[in-house]
Amino acid sequence: MADVDVHELVEQIERIRAEAERALAAAETLQDVETVRVRFLGRKGELTAALSAMASLSSSDKPIAGNAANTAKRAIEESLEVRFQELSAEALTRQLKAERIDLTLPGRPVERGYSHPLLVALQEIVDIFIRMGYEVVEGREVEYEEYNFTKLNIPTEHPARDMWDTLYLSANMLLRTHTSPAQARVMETTRPPVRVIVPGRCYRNEAEDATHGIQFLQIEGLVVDTDITLADLKGTLYAFCRAYFGPDRELRFRPSYFPFTEPSAEVDVACAVCKGHGCRTCGFKGWLELLGAGMVHPNVLRAVGYDPQVYSGFAFGAGPDRLCIQKYGITDLRLFRENDLRFLEQFS
Ligand code: FA5
Repeated sequence: MADVDVHELVEQIERIRAEAERALAAAETLQDVETVRVRFLGRKGELTAALSAMASLSSSDKPIAGNAANTAKRAIEESLEVRFQELSAEALTRQLKAERIDLTLPGRPVERGYSHPLLVALQEIVDIFIRMGYEVVEGREVEYEEYNFTKLNIPTEHPARDMWDTLYLSANMLLRTHTSPAQARVMETTRPPVRVIVPGRCYRNEAEDATHGIQFLQIEGLVVDTDITLADLKGTLYAFCRAYFGPDRELRFRPSYFPFTEPSAEVDVACAVCKGHGCRTCGFKGWLELLGAGMVHPNVLRAVGYDPQVYSGFAFGAGPDRLCIQKYGITDLRLFRENDLRFLEQFS
């Protein structure tokens, strides 16, 4: 005897199905969909409860209610899936909108770099010599003692070696103390006429001050041909200094000594910082030495196989660090290597 009417049960199942559809239509979030699933299909859900009532149906009624229940369950499952997909798609669209990247926004500007003032100075100096017809040659920062000293008429034990003391990398190799070793290297591999400049870094064991660094730039010049005279050297150096500083800066040419030139000279410029009155930068002399120079010593010519009876030449070694501070009135060349942007940016 069944105490549940199968028609009522089928109707109840239909109501549950209709109610589930309504609840799903009202669901606004994925969480709402899950709540609907638990409410109707969960272990204690409404459809599950209705199904348990089937137990008391007669065996002929059971398939009728069972059919209705299965159809309702499949329908609710399908609707759950449809609503789940709809709401997932909406959620994704919302998220994409919220996280939209505006590709038309201009990017953050990249800060532009600029050349170091010393390199700008070096380039300017090199350009002046290129305009005078010089070829640019690269020397070696690590040199043999033989090139740094011996071939420049500075034998072992010569006191001039002390002036150019530096870091030795091995018994006979050192960080070059000047760009002059390139003189011998160029002459050994070419025949006159020679007209070259050699820019590059040099290293010395110095007590650093406003005009002396332990690392600094030099630019070597070498001209060898027949009939080269001191007048050519003087004219060239004055022409260069006038081109670099302008025509009004005072220069002076004074006798000096280098073992690899004879006669030798140094060129000074009237100090830009104190206008020649004397200050810490120029050592209170009013003048600052820019370069050493002279006529190539016959021993240097002989050492590379040039006949000093036929050829003569001049050479010079200028300091771009000093040329640069004197052009801009900078008080201390150590500023170039301290990397303080407040200083460097003034040259950008
Ligand atoms: C020489 O180095 C010689 N080789 C120059 C030379 C070449 C003479 C060819 C004759 C023929 P001196 O040590 O004076 O000379 O240096 C030449 C220039 O390099 C100086 O006038 C200066 O401008 C620069 N210089 C030298 N030492 C330093 C230093 N420690 N810091 C910055 N600049 C320096």
